[in-house]
Amino acid sequence: MGTTDSTGSKQPRPAEHVAIIMDGNGRWATQKGWPRLVGHRRGAERVKEIVRCAPDLGIRWLTVYAFSTENWKRSTEEVLGLMSIFARYIEREADRLAAEGVRMRFIGDRSRLDPKLQRLMKGIEERTEGFTRLNFTVAINYGGRDEILRATRAIAAKVAAGEIAPEEVTEAMISAHLDTGGIPDPDLVIRTSGETRTSNFLQWQTAYAEYEFTPTLWPDFTPEELASILARFGNRDRRFGGVASA
Ligand code: IPE
Ligand code: IPE
Ligand code: MG
Repeated sequence: MGTTDSTGSKQPRPAEHVAIIMDGNGRWATQKGWPRLVGHRRGAERVKEIVRCAPDLGIRWLTVYAFSTENWKRSTEEVLGLMSIFARYIEREADRLAAEGVRMRFIGDRSRLDPKLQRLMKGIEERTEGFTRLNFTVAINYGGRDEILRATRAIAAKVAAGEIAPEEVTEAMISAHLDTGGIPDPDLVIRTSGETRTSNFLQWQTAYAEYEFTPTLWPDFTPEELASILARFGNRDRRFGGVASA
């Protein structure tokens, strides 16, 4: 239950790295009789708000799932609409992210994305590289299994080239070869919209993450709800395979 300070009293432990599966945009729009893309646009507004409040809630790392390797199965209209929302987000938010000291980066396989979007992604990553107030990571064309597969191939190539021996492959080496290399593992994963599955998000990195599922649809998710989830998290006892803390 949190950490114990010098006076012996329990302090809630903050969730420094929060990862969010932003789900429910489509249902939110459909319930109102609107096209699904309206929900995605509203969802992007929510992301802005959560990025803005995160540092004040003690979050240093925020990772959001925006598009999975499986989301290509959706209609061309929805896929293209989402891609243009991502591009517009980067173009319109760049100055504010920089002004607020937010480092933005992306995980996932970019090779399948439109070259213009890839250039925008690279541009904002380079522009915000030196910032540390908040590390904001967006998963686009991301799949946990795909990421592990790509890392495995990279390591296998080094083994085949004789650079490393098979027995020299370590967990740390695998972590470093993932798209999230250099990013700490999430403490807490939140999924909105009531679904209680992980849908291929950060499979390796969440081995010891806590999960919170809320029925709220992503376009209705607020900083207040995030704050209350974080407060609950602070009181959880994360044992990491050991025994309960005193
Ligand atoms: C999450 O909302 C955003 C993406 C997967 C891109 P959905 O679009 O999955 O919304 P629902 O689950 O259909 O309501
Ligand atoms: C997970 O949501 C992916 C994102 C939030 C980007 P989905 O809506 O795609 O997941 P499933 O299909 O319900 O598992
Ligand atoms: Mg969904």
